[in-house]
Amino acid sequence: MSDISTSTVPQNDPGAAYRAQKSAIDAAIARVLARGWYILGEEVAEFERDFARYIGVNHAIGVANGTDALVLALKALDLGHEDYVVTVAHTAVATVAAVELAGARPLLVDIEPMSYALDAAALARVLKSPPGRIGAIIPVHLYGQAADLAAILPLAREHGIPLIEDCAQAHGARFGERRLGSLGDIGCFSLYPTKNLGALGDGGIVVTADNALAERLRALREYGWRERYVSDIAGMNSRLDEVQAAVLRVKLPELDGGNRRRAAIADAYDRGLAGSGLGLPWRRPGASHVFHQYVVRSPARDRLRDALRARGIGTNIHYPVPVHLQPAYRGRIALDPAGLPESEAAAREILSLPLYPQLDDRAVARVIAAVRESAVE
Ligand SMILES: Cc1ncc(COP(=O)(O)O)c(C=O)c1O
Repeated sequence: MSDISTSTVPQNDPGAAYRAQKSAIDAAIARVLARGWYILGEEVAEFERDFARYIGVNHAIGVANGTDALVLALKALDLGHEDYVVTVAHTAVATVAAVELAGARPLLVDIEPMSYALDAAALARVLKSPPGRIGAIIPVHLYGQAADLAAILPLAREHGIPLIEDCAQAHGARFGERRLGSLGDIGCFSLYPTKNLGALGDGGIVVTADNALAERLRALREYGWRERYVSDIAGMNSRLDEVQAAVLRVKLPELDGGNRRRAAIADAYDRGLAGSGLGLPWRRPGASHVFHQYVVRSPARDRLRDALRARGIGTNIHYPVPVHLQPAYRGRIALDPAGLPESEAAAREILSLPLYPQLDDRAVARVIAAVRESAVE
């Protein structure tokens, strides 16, 4: 056994999630290997049924990754090259990349400083004087909690614009009584290994209550086929494979328990870091937070990160450069004319502490002690 006082505490550890369910996962993989059917078979169909039921929608469509989930959602809405899609710059670059991959134009707006999610006031502003037709809105439920859907949903409805929820970091989180992904027209999830529900490779899933959209999504993920070898619409290849689906069927029943452990660790961090001078996560009233990340904020972020590294505490920055300032996008992406000052400030100050369900209480106490020492240096 490693000595917790000297070993490194990683920021995330997908291998620990595998070890926690090793025999069930190994058995599920062996079952698929023996069956000899590896793409879009009964494991995917069962996982889709289970996940749709879990989210509270009629349809779930397994795809290759979370980026494709967004691309397929946008393609299902049949957006044109002139259409803008409103989203944020403070997100995984995938959210914005997906808009361009689907052939539409990103229009980026600022975030709320408290939640780090899309600012409804900025959205209202761009909807009032848009640069062109707005084809969709993608709020990102960042770090595990809902964007301000109480304000964003009515704005989308009022303007007749479809809403796609980017739920890549919010599996199982609720807004009111409902799970995220079930409130907009389409919900998109990544199943990347470090997510709250993670495969042992790439994976993604799209959910919707709309029968026609579900039917288009199923066709689009496999060459536009409704009937084998007949492409009615121009599709792509983005399929969830049977091995990943079998693993995800083992992991889905543990998702709520994993999210409860994440929330308990977050509560311990809140208590342990109160009065440390760091900005601590804000919780949206009426919503649950599944703490994909526990993000603190400090103007001395880089020094804090170095001091934690010296003490064996792993951290990460989600994300260090807003998308509109990334080399591939700088100067050529449409932005809210009011600018994105909160996104730029957040990128300079945020730091994600270690957080995953298998992180034990001793490691949590060690992180708290190290952050408290480092914050005063
Ligand atoms: C907010 C967000 N959107 C989209 C994605 C894309 O998911 P994937 O990496 O599975 O393509 C991710 C994950 O990286 C994400 O965090």
